[in-house]
Amino acid sequence: MTQVLSVVSECAPLVKTGGLADVAGALPLALMDHGVRMRTLVPGYPQVIQRTDKAKVILSLPDLFGGDARILAANVGGLDLLILEAAHLYNRAGNIYLAPSGKDWPDNPERFAALCWVAAFIAMNGIDGWRPDILHGHDWQAGLMTEYLTAMGGTGQVGTVMTIHNIAFHGIADPSKLDKLRLNPARFTQDGFEFWGKISALKAGLMAADRLTTVSPTYAEELMTDQFGMGFDGVMRFRRDDLSGILNGIDTDTWNPATDPNIQTYKTPRGKAKATAALRDELGLPQADGPLCVVVSRLTEQKGLDLLLEALPTLLHRGGQLALLGSGSAQLEAAYKEAGKHPNVAVRIGYDEPLSHRMMAGGDAILVPSRFEPCGLTQLYGLRYGTIPCVALTGGLADTVINASPMALASGVATGVQFSPVTVGSLHNALNRLCDLYADSGTWERMQRNAMAQAVDWGPSAARYAALYRDILTKA
Ligand code: ADP
Ligand code: GLC
Repeated sequence: MTQVLSVVSECAPLVKTGGLADVAGALPLALMDHGVRMRTLVPGYPQVIQRTDKAKVILSLPDLFGGDARILAANVGGLDLLILEAAHLYNRAGNIYLAPSGKDWPDNPERFAALCWVAAFIAMNGIDGWRPDILHGHDWQAGLMTEYLTAMGGTGQVGTVMTIHNIAFHGIADPSKLDKLRLNPARFTQDGFEFWGKISALKAGLMAADRLTTVSPTYAEELMTDQFGMGFDGVMRFRRDDLSGILNGIDTDTWNPATDPNIQTYKTPRGKAKATAALRDELGLPQADGPLCVVVSRLTEQKGLDLLLEALPTLLHRGGQLALLGSGSAQLEAAYKEAGKHPNVAVRIGYDEPLSHRMMAGGDAILVPSRFEPCGLTQLYGLRYGTIPCVALTGGLADTVINASPMALASGVATGVQFSPVTVGSLHNALNRLCDLYADSGTWERMQRNAMAQAVDWGPSAARYAALYRDILTKA
């Protein structure tokens, strides 16, 4: 049995701002079938502490980056959690990353450095009679674990994996914090964690981890380019032999149209009509000739939803409708609220898990016009629910959807529509293509069947992570 400690800043169902939490929550369960026991180290935010009432204190840590801390163990829905309770770092209301001003908490470097320090401490000293063979960190919040492991003398004793879910976040801190962050100043170099004169927690992990992964094969390639590397393309090219793209799966129990308690369940594309009618009813949308398109997303630059606002008249002109659930940038929220005044557009600003299921079930199509998308999960939910994805040709969106090209249609394998480049013009063409396909009910139903039959579970990818861990351990 391989023992792995996953180090992560959010984990569903306890605390979630995006797909990272879904992955962190699903992967440990999927790995059980592959000879891996994964425990998960998460910060003890209020929402985590509240939802783990039977947690057991297993270790006290005096003075962890400015205050006392404890590690609690708990099991939630099969997840084996180690919770870092440190009130001075994590006991804050609201968003886990952002202060009420909408800006990062000023002590984010310390908050997540502490998580990494504790991960290294557990790897070196064990906890509760258990010691991991591998530390598996996710995104910049876990980046410094390799630094502390080295400082504690753990090089070569414990394997390390860093997974990039989104390279847009670099984990930057001012070098004046070197001491406070308990970092070795000798490592503040280009080969270490120095990035344009600043400390980058992400760079620390990317330079030093034994192996790097990201969440789709296409994003692994894109990361090595100037366009998508966001300043780290050189680092990624440097580490290309250690980098692999392993596609995310989804939790196919939570996302199952045949059993989903949030919807009128269905097993076939025809059965889906009830869910579509129910969604129109709920959102106050009239009957329409065109497809009901849904979006469930963070409203940020990454997601390309500004382009959708501009291309929206095309969809409406073709008799289509839009239902959007999302939150994020104040500007996009306001623009979508305005767009929602149209009778064929329904907008819900906020975060609403049950509604996201009803939208996935009720939509005819799901739109994901992202400028970049490391993997993307909502197009996978769409496939599973027979909700045809109309997506940008990038990252995981390129790897999971089969574009309705003439050839794919002729051979009957298409599952969606892809467009490139990510511009208003090409989105406009994609929406027209989507409406043409929708109007041809035989073709549409065939695409829905293909989509619903596509494997989107964690099985094959969990096997790849398990093999990666074994590979590190045999080479150690
Ligand atoms: P990202 O992680 O970049 O936000 P993903 O597609 O990987 O993108 O994952 C987003 C996750 O967050 C999905 O599970 C999606 O359903 C969920 N989500 C995003 N916005 C909302 C919302 N407003 N309400 C409910 N769920 C949401
Ligand atoms: C990130 C990416 C998204 C990916 C998710 C889980 O938030 O933006 O594409 O699906 O992580 O890996």
